Amino acid sequence: MARKIVIFDTTLRDGEQSPGASMTMSEKLALAQQLAHLNVDVIEAGFPFSSPEDFESVSRIAQEVSGPTICGLARTKAEDIESCYNAIRHAAKPRIHTFVGTSKVHLEKRLRKTADEVLAMAVENVQHAASLTADVEFSPEDAMRTDLGYLRDIVEATIEAGATTINIPDTVGYTTPWIMEETIRELFENVPNIDQAVISVHCHDDLGLSVANSLAAVKAGAGQVECTVNGMGERAGNASLEEIVMSIRTRSDEFDAYTEVNTKEIVKTSKMVSSFTGFPVQPNKAIVGENAFRHEAGIHQHGVIMDRETYEIMEPQDVGWVESELTLGPRSGKHGVRQRLKDLGYQVTDAQMEDIYARFIEMADKKNQIYDEDLEILMREATTEMAETWSLAYLQVNSTTGARSQATVRLRKEDAEYEKEAVGNGPVDAVYAAINLITEVQTTLDDYSIRSVTRGKDALGEATVRIATDGESAIGRAASTDVIEASAAAYLNALNRLLIRSELGKQDAQDTP
Ligand code: KIV
Ligand code: ZN
Repeated sequence: MARKIVIFDTTLRDGEQSPGASMTMSEKLALAQQLAHLNVDVIEAGFPFSSPEDFESVSRIAQEVSGPTICGLARTKAEDIESCYNAIRHAAKPRIHTFVGTSKVHLEKRLRKTADEVLAMAVENVQHAASLTADVEFSPEDAMRTDLGYLRDIVEATIEAGATTINIPDTVGYTTPWIMEETIRELFENVPNIDQAVISVHCHDDLGLSVANSLAAVKAGAGQVECTVNGMGERAGNASLEEIVMSIRTRSDEFDAYTEVNTKEIVKTSKMVSSFTGFPVQPNKAIVGENAFRHEAGIHQHGVIMDRETYEIMEPQDVGWVESELTLGPRSGKHGVRQRLKDLGYQVTDAQMEDIYARFIEMADKKNQIYDEDLEILMREATTEMAETWSLAYLQVNSTTGARSQATVRLRKEDAEYEKEAVGNGPVDAVYAAINLITEVQTTLDDYSIRSVTRGKDALGEATVRIATDGESAIGRAASTDVIEASAAAYLNALNRLLIRSELGKQDAQDTP
């Protein structure tokens, strides 16, 4: 009989560790709600002890998101386990996930402890976690570079101590599919109490093998896969949720397994993650890339018209690709807007609809034709509104060929307004110089891009910027029919993120896995 594979999403924890990818509290909550619609089994919501902000967001997700198990990460330290428990305790299904490095390099260089000491630490902390909640996951970090005999011992001891899931991480993306398959089989054959826990796998993509390695573990009997939407994560990222889920579904003949993910929500979730983190999805990315289901070559187009199966192994609709439609304009009523949002998968309450409709009218006044892409941006702005430190009140730019541009910018902070003028190499540079004068924050602009997100000559231009100050970086995004205004708003969006983050401060950042 086909086995169910538990999908453990760690976009909000490991995915959010991508440099510059951090999300605001409202974005994390909106994403967690979307992950619940996607019907993942477990949401790893964060690492509560790592910062007050992480604690708060894990705790709010535990209280507000229903359906999946809500999991928090903790090192094998009593204070981490307590903090994690306090953050997840209100969830209907709470889980503590505790980890410690077990490879030679981790034992000797990072932890400076013997293998026996680390095994004792793991057992003690799993017991502590199990005294607080019945659902406990243990990860021997860097398992795939850990001595196999020691790995067997620590897996057996932590199951004995109360771990109900044992996760085997390929922390540095070093393994290959056949070694992974062999390792998981070896654990199943030689750990006497292995049937008392679910065996999980967690792969990083340093060699581009994370999905293949995860699937190899499933083939060998793993019952849980840890993954992230769009493969977000440290360095080259984690195994991509959409690729794992669609591989298991499309090749169920190979795996004799299934997941309970609602695949029709995949594209929407991918777009949400890309928009909240500012990380674009490459066009040729499997499943969720813009070109994933597009056929350019005449011979392919002809084949697909004759029979879809000639060149397609999945239906685009199965993962939530819908044909974009032009349905709305300035005269569209609230009911029509709400219906189209519903078709796009957004459930909107009456109270939210007031705000969304006001934004819609403002957009429709500037831009006659409203496409689905415009509605997606509108929804993003409505859900990501954050406690803004600085917002744009007024902007004027003079730009002449062959001369430096001059900008006057007025910003609002709380109830006060501040205005400055500056010159620069081009209008965007002048605007950013004026913003820096007002905010008195010196940043470096690491990346700047502008692209048209919708269609027609009045299309929205979306600016994406990455700025850095004091070693911290943030990505900001904003869209407008005026690209200079979009550039200013994107810059402020990134700056506000940096300011919010620096106020909250991070503890123990060096211990983040
Ligand atoms: O990559 C890793 O080892 C981790 C663990 C905390 C599971 O993220
Ligand atoms: Zn990881």
